[in-house]
Amino acid sequence: MNSALPASQKPFIKALNGEALPRPPVWLMRQAGRYLPEYRATRAQAGSFLDLCYNPDLATEVTLQPIRRFGFDAAILFADILLLPQALGQELRFQEGEGPLLAAIRSEAELGKLRPEAIHARLEPVYEAVARIKAALPAETALIGFAGAPWTVATYMLEGRGGNDQAAAKMWAFGNPAALDRLMALLVDSTVSYLDRQIQAGAEVVQLFDTWAGVLPDEQFQRYCVLPVKMIIQRLRQKYPALPVIAFPRGAGAQYDGFAAATGATALSLDYTVPLAWARDRLWSKHPVQGNLDPRLLVAGGPQMLQAVQRILQHFQGRNHIFNLGHGILPETPPQHVEQLLRLLRGASMAA
Ligand code: CP3
Repeated sequence: MNSALPASQKPFIKALNGEALPRPPVWLMRQAGRYLPEYRATRAQAGSFLDLCYNPDLATEVTLQPIRRFGFDAAILFADILLLPQALGQELRFQEGEGPLLAAIRSEAELGKLRPEAIHARLEPVYEAVARIKAALPAETALIGFAGAPWTVATYMLEGRGGNDQAAAKMWAFGNPAALDRLMALLVDSTVSYLDRQIQAGAEVVQLFDTWAGVLPDEQFQRYCVLPVKMIIQRLRQKYPALPVIAFPRGAGAQYDGFAAATGATALSLDYTVPLAWARDRLWSKHPVQGNLDPRLLVAGGPQMLQAVQRILQHFQGRNHIFNLGHGILPETPPQHVEQLLRLLRGASMAA
């Protein structure tokens, strides 16, 4: 099915390059996932979530499932932000109902056990999946590669799990900032190298997920969220000057303002708390934005959901907006609600 368009002619990438389109391109964070029965079947076939991530055939299959079913404008590589710490040598497992569990790093001395030079041996199946996905995508569909932003990846590496106010990583930030800088530098290097390989394999855009950006005071936000993301983008652009990068500093609130200028990100992915009028006037006025329907509204469906979608469309009418959720799609989402959403978006004219 593949005679792919050049990246610059795909609607999603046109929007990232600042073009206003007749309708907003759309994809959904976590679009490949448990809300789809075909995903649950492939995951069962793989054995576990991690087995699925490291199986290029099956990872390709689940990446393509939502594209086949819904025709989204972009596919996102099926993987996880925690594959990188695992490739660095940290023990990782996913406990049913509990989420990720890592063997937490408890001291600065333990940073010495991480092995940046070893990551590609472990991550090779991920690059293989990128190449296969690229070869199988419909001509107009863009391919997004991704990584966690260093701060969020560090919160899991130091805490061993999510939740709990990111206490462990914050204790490093406040108690031994030089040690946390050391971990950040290591994560910046390995993330650049990881994303570079995804791009070589065919990723056309990269998104950096900073899920826990919203827990830091201003000074630490600059040091651990802004600076590492800026360094990653600078280094990728030395090699790929036109690379579009989407940053998702979830929960950053007022810190969203100026984030793209400070980091060099092409576009910002908005969490669902960001007020639309403010986003239009302070953010969209400077660069494209992506977002930001509350994923819980997509579970609820009905007129409330459709009204919320209309509100988002009205705020960015005639503008280079990318429709998405404000965080990942929830497993209990009925797939018919996604169909309703798409009918509304595809009927929508963005002409001013
Ligand atoms: O968006 C996509 O379709 C691409 C794949 C993708 C996954 N995780 C698959 C996944 C992406 C981009 C991620 C990013 C990710 N992973 C983030 C950042 C974005 C966010 O959601 O905040 C984070 C923090 C993680 C770490 C992670 N992975 C957690 C906390 C969990 C458990 C929570 C949950 O939803 O179960 C995961 C598991 C995970 N990653 C699943 C999927 C499809 C569910 C695994 C399953 O099949 O059981």
